[in-house]
Amino acid sequence: MDYRRTYVRDLFNLAPGTETSAFGWVKTRRDSKGVSFVQLSDGSCFRDFQVVIAAGTISEDVLKLITTGACVRFDGVVVESPAAGQAVELSASGVEVFGGADAANYPLQKKGATLEYLREIAHLRARGNTFGAVFRMRAQAAQAIHQFFAKRGFHYIQTPIITASDAEGAGAMFQVTTALEVNAPLEAPDGQFAYRLRSANPEHDFFGKPSYLTVSGQLEAETIALGMTNVYTFGPTFRAENSSTSRHLAEFWMVEPEMAFCDLEGNMNLAEEFLKEVIGNLLDFCGDDLSFFNQRIEPHLLETLEHVVTSPFERLTYTEAVTMLEQSGENFEFPVGWGTDLQSEHERWLTEVKVGRPVILTDYPKEIKAFYMRQNEDGKTVRAMDVLAPRIGEIIGGSQREERLDVLEARIKESGLPLEPYWWYLDLRRFGSAPHAGFGLGFERLLMYVTGMKNIRDVIPYHRTPGNADF
Ligand code: 4AD
Ligand code: MG
Repeated sequence: MDYRRTYVRDLFNLAPGTETSAFGWVKTRRDSKGVSFVQLSDGSCFRDFQVVIAAGTISEDVLKLITTGACVRFDGVVVESPAAGQAVELSASGVEVFGGADAANYPLQKKGATLEYLREIAHLRARGNTFGAVFRMRAQAAQAIHQFFAKRGFHYIQTPIITASDAEGAGAMFQVTTALEVNAPLEAPDGQFAYRLRSANPEHDFFGKPSYLTVSGQLEAETIALGMTNVYTFGPTFRAENSSTSRHLAEFWMVEPEMAFCDLEGNMNLAEEFLKEVIGNLLDFCGDDLSFFNQRIEPHLLETLEHVVTSPFERLTYTEAVTMLEQSGENFEFPVGWGTDLQSEHERWLTEVKVGRPVILTDYPKEIKAFYMRQNEDGKTVRAMDVLAPRIGEIIGGSQREERLDVLEARIKESGLPLEPYWWYLDLRRFGSAPHAGFGLGFERLLMYVTGMKNIRDVIPYHRTPGNADF
């Protein structure tokens, strides 16, 4: 046996009379007048393939093992199917059961299991319709992203996961250390647990200084863009915020393009083109999965996605958006006013009620954005851009970067950060500085948008959130 096989998705295209084998997991088995009908799935496509076992073909003892969840290979011949919905089926002549699944104990047996329950058995959920569809879309979206950038001459770069720089103050960080003896929790006199410290001196720690899991690859991507022009990273990022919302993960994947010789306008154009092309690719290649989400998860999903691909995104300044929100007459839980950060209820009102499609907001007050964003002439706002999507809120965050050394130094100090650790970042502005811009797309936020799944924990194989690192 090797990896080369006829996938279930290919079986549908075989001509009647073809001898073949069908590998997969049994979704259901139904018996009628001595004939057994098996729905088989191997995750290669949304549809199950029907296998028919005529009376007497397979011994009773073996037939008993062909239950929901069992892993099998059927050998047989493709025949025209009298059943509706499929042209062909497999008429089985033999079977090998690789692994049975005791019907009384198989956790996925239950029909209509809730998404919350499926999260507890995340190691088995890829076998179901919903998560098969989610993970196929995830794989296709990743491919579409790489294709998008490759076509435009961007270089795919890999930025570090462990970093000693405080990155950008994007969020609380996870510290990486070997200074604690992790398997030696001590009971302290006050009854609390503590870990034994090998050394309290950060210089004795593994990297010789405090180090963290990265919150973003942006700063490193900038260094490479200012030498290779157009680059992007696509990797895991980490935020230790203690927020258990349906839109936040402690470990999530981010796509970060960075472009030299590019301003905010060019950055917005790329972000819009990017979302449209990736969503268009999913509409082209994940039709069956999208139909399922459209039918079972999010009504009008297909219509919405087609609309996104064909209509221009609305572009507004932060100041214009705040004025609209103030004049909306809505009773928001959080007050809106110039200078405050927008809450998800505000983002949703703008995208869902006011505009009805994605909105790009620009030129935010500098106080609520990171130090590296280029300052506008007004001295109050920066060249930031957030792409907001209906249902999701912020899906992309980016900016034109501050390329002027003196302004950047002043902004770092103003933000209460020390200059010294940014020496290399500042060097880019000392030597051959260039106007440049970039953005970060939350990969899981995109997947929520295109699948209609309501909880970000359900668009990643294994979610990391406060209190959960299982599997
Ligand atoms: O807006 P953020 O914090 O921007 C940055 O990190 C920049 N350095 C990006 C850049 O310009 N290169 O994060 C970017 C995106 C957000 O718009 C959101 O989609 C997603 O990352 N994101 C999260 N997704 C899941 N869980 C979280 N905790 C997230 N925090 C941000
Ligand atoms: Mg942001």
